[in-house]
Amino acid sequence: MGFDQYHEPPNELPEETRTFARMILSVIEEAQAIDWYEQRMAVEKDNQAKAIMKDAQKEEFKHFGMDLEFLLRKKPVWREILQGILFKDGNIVQHGDHAEEEAD
Ligand SMILES: [Fe+2]
Repeated sequence: MGFDQYHEPPNELPEETRTFARMILSVIEEAQAIDWYEQRMAVEKDNQAKAIMKDAQKEEFKHFGMDLEFLLRKKPVWREILQGILFKDGNIVQHGDHAEEEAD
């Protein structure tokens, strides 16, 4: 059986860490789905098919956001860093450096 999301022996990991690992894998899969729809839409010639893909990609944005919010509730320092980066205008790298420096 494949349990590739684990980097350590699963039976040695606490339940909370295994849940965290599953949700990390989920957020990766949702990001991958967003990417795949983006690529499919870029090459699709049929407008109706493209509209369906766009609708499906929108659902993946929601899934990604829910997974990420779950993870951020488990890792306050991650939330703190992202609060310094996301939804802001300006220099992304500077925001990132500052957010990392300020985080506990
Ligand atoms: Fe999804």
